Amino acid sequence: MNEVLKCLKERRSVRKYRSEQIKDSELEQILEAGTYAPTGMGMQSPIMVAVQDPETIAKLSKMNAAVMGVTSDPFYGAPTVIVVLADRSRGTYVEDGSLVMGNLMNAAYSIGVDSCWIHRAKEVFESEEGQALLKEWSIEGDYIGIGHCILGYRDGELPKAKPRKENYIYIVK
Ligand SMILES: Cc1cc2nc3c(=O)[nH]c(=O)nc-3n(C[C@H](O)[C@H](O)[C@H](O)COP(=O)(O)O)c2cc1C
Repeated sequence: MNEVLKCLKERRSVRKYRSEQIKDSELEQILEAGTYAPTGMGMQSPIMVAVQDPETIAKLSKMNAAVMGVTSDPFYGAPTVIVVLADRSRGTYVEDGSLVMGNLMNAAYSIGVDSCWIHRAKEVFESEEGQALLKEWSIEGDYIGIGHCILGYRDGELPKAKPRKENYIYIVK
């Protein structure tokens, strides 16, 4: 199997991380892969905010947990969080942002970095606190949260994929 297909099959969501930060060169490669995701009409509606400052990650974690009504860390201790947002004025913003998320996770796995999509970015960045964070990061425009891609090195084994469901694929010839 070629390396790309192998990576697409093997990547798994990781929910336990070592505290060690990923390398800058790894983060750069992952972010660059994100920028090459396809977007509706090539309008590149998403943006990515890579957060490595522990205080800001802790803040995002609390905000995310609050949306769920829990106090646990939804980021599982991952040392990097990439927030993907997309320009609400583009009709394909959800699809655009989701493809960026996919590129980030698959690119990460291909270079030995683990990841997981963490949800609730929409609620977090619609909140007053979330809007204030965007302002603090000098992000202007009508951006809506799509997802958080957490990154780090896993602590333990890579989880196994569930068997693929029956009737996933239909081929019409
Ligand atoms: C839109 C979306 C939202 C997700 N949100 C979360 C989340 O908030 N927390 C979490 O632990 N995993 C989350 N995941 C990861 C899924 O649970 C995971 O992809 C799924 O269980 C399949 O596992 P795999 O990625 O290892 O194949 C999310 C995945 C997607 C696509």
